[in-house]
Amino acid sequence: VSLKPHNTFGMDVSAAHFCQLDDLARLPALLADKHYQQGPVLWLGGGSNLLLTQDYPGLVVKLALRGIRVLQDHGDSLLVEAAAGENWHDFVRYCLQQGWYGLENLSLIPGTVGACPVQNIGAYGVEVKDRIAQVVCADLQANGTPVVLENTDCRFAYRDSVFKHEAAGRLLVTAVRFRLSRQPQLKTAYGDIQQELDKRGISQPTPLDVSDVVMAIRASKLPNPAELGNAGSFFKNPVIGQAQADELLQRFPALPHYPAGAGKVKLAAGWLIDQAGLKGYRQGDAAVHERQALVLVNHGAASGSQMWALACHVQDTVRQRYGVELEAEPLVL
Ligand code: EPU
Repeated sequence: VSLKPHNTFGMDVSAAHFCQLDDLARLPALLADKHYQQGPVLWLGGGSNLLLTQDYPGLVVKLALRGIRVLQDHGDSLLVEAAAGENWHDFVRYCLQQGWYGLENLSLIPGTVGACPVQNIGAYGVEVKDRIAQVVCADLQANGTPVVLENTDCRFAYRDSVFKHEAAGRLLVTAVRFRLSRQPQLKTAYGDIQQELDKRGISQPTPLDVSDVVMAIRASKLPNPAELGNAGSFFKNPVIGQAQADELLQRFPALPHYPAGAGKVKLAAGWLIDQAGLKGYRQGDAAVHERQALVLVNHGAASGSQMWALACHVQDTVRQRYGVELEAEPLVL
């Protein structure tokens, strides 16, 4: 089965076995299936945080669980549950249309609801951990028994959670519960949001306005995976110690940096790559995006290993020039 329609890099690799899970009641049967038992198994959401460099030798399960429901309504505050297979951006817009606020800054992020806690998606000053109350999982080692993790159990950090570590391969995210609000609490300080609102002459923005502006800013910088294969930011913004940061800032005073907890500094990887002269750099069809150097793109025929070779070149260049290690953000298989 070709995985091309199931990964946003558009890699034309195949899976030995493929199935969709659209009903949780069918999970125990799936876990007992011989292809599942044989393994390996890859659980797939939107395939937007994945670089496939070769055919997958095992079973790929596309999570297609759907449904959105209100679990609690306290007037101002609500608890809303969305199933893992819901498209993230459609869910964000649906909430805004209902008057449920809080996710507007996270508009237009590719992928599914089920993937959002795994890498703790974030943009424009908001991380999804700020809105998640609970994550509903299936325990794959206990016949799919439901397990509810509280926010603090998820050990959220920058682009990180328990689902990338201890829970990986054991807890499958089946639904996410969000704490949303009917009272707008806008965050417009980050990046160009305020500037874009001013440009549009919007002095009293609604959450829908913020969502529209975030969508416009993202569309202007980030390639649309439907048009140009990519997986969003290919690298995490590196977090380094204060001493090393001071040294780097001596050499590169313009380097954008942000406080990242005690004695830690987060650097803009896009800037490091850009200033190393790699923005728009191309090896065949594998390229560094010309408007945002943190994004690697497939101009059409690049293979997964060519994309990975380019990623390694970027890592090597940044290491040599700045002594900083860039960590790939998508899952590379
Ligand atoms: N910059 C450059 N050149 C570039 C890219 C960036 O000089 O080619 C500079 C910018 O001018 C800015 C700084 O680097 O001063 C940061 O850039 P930007 O605001 O575009 O954000 P980012 O740090 O590159 C992160 C997230 C994005 C998210 C944006 C906005 C990560 C890995 N990426 O990017 O998330 O949309 O902030 O909040 O943290 C993703 O994870 O896939 C993603 C797109």
